[in-house]
Amino acid sequence: MGEIRDRTLWITGASSGIGRALVLRFVAHNNVVIASGRRREALEELQQIAPARIHVLDCDVADDQSMAAISERLRALTDHLDTVIACAGTCEYDDDLQLENAMYRRVFDVNFFGVVNTLRCALPLLAISQSPLFAALGSLSSVVPFPRAEAYGSSKAALDYFLASVRADVCHTNLKVVLIRPGFVETPLTAENDFSMPFLISAERAAKYIEEGLARGASTIDFPHRLSLPLRFLGFFRSLWFRFCTTKISRIRTLRKN
Ligand SMILES: NC(=O)c1ccc[n+]([C@@H]2O[C@H](COP(=O)([O-])OP(=O)(O)OC[C@H]3O[C@@H](n4cnc5c(N)ncnc54)[C@H](OP(=O)(O)O)[C@@H]3O)[C@@H](O)[C@H]2O)c1
Repeated sequence: MGEIRDRTLWITGASSGIGRALVLRFVAHNNVVIASGRRREALEELQQIAPARIHVLDCDVADDQSMAAISERLRALTDHLDTVIACAGTCEYDDDLQLENAMYRRVFDVNFFGVVNTLRCALPLLAISQSPLFAALGSLSSVVPFPRAEAYGSSKAALDYFLASVRADVCHTNLKVVLIRPGFVETPLTAENDFSMPFLISAERAAKYIEEGLARGASTIDFPHRLSLPLRFLGFFRSLWFRFCTTKISRIRTLRKN
């Protein structure tokens, strides 16, 4: 119950945080996992835990050119993929509305175009599976607009639409498309956050929520419910969010003049 077993998976963002916890959870349940990230040493260290079940595929999902070669490298490791989880992601905040293009592009390159690249490379191998599944990590931050999250939240909102659009496109096929929206998870990504993170959970707990959601066939996996339910309510009644919440968390008091 609530477990994924005997599948071949590709997980990006596997060198730390949620992706790493997912790899460990899935190999414990008799799955084979191809683990990706840029840091090969971190992936090889992870591989030592279950050498027969973890394969290492280092890649930069934001680099269109090197991703062009990934399909071939995937094919050298497996003849099919049952499940792909695009977990690679980054977060940068826009303090004081700097609106610096380069920062927005960095965030979108990984969080949005990285997922497009991942799906493009995986699709031919997913097509061979009897029950293919493509999932990507969005964020509950796209449910309501958070201050300073103009780049990060927008990239995740764009991802939300992208996945929904793909789901609409493949409705006559057996490909399942899943959006995963975590709340706050304790990982290197959130370690630098200088604000309180309500209902913070461990990466292991996040991986459990994700596996259980995939096993029950959910199309959207939101967690933890203590955070997702109130945020979804406020997302529906946005005027309440702007009236009672953003006024408490926004840091900008005056507009910069230069
Ligand atoms: N932590 C949270 O509270 C939270 C909440 C909502 C959503 N999420 C989402 O969950 C996902 C995982 O985040 P996390 O918290 O586990 O963060 P993390 O520990 O910082 O992990 C991010 C992973 O992404 C990989 N990565 C980053 N840029 C990459 C690139 N250009 N190419 C390939 N891999 C890249 C990193 O590996 P390398 O450095 O080795 O490349 C690392 O394995 C992200 O999409 C994040 O937006 C996290």
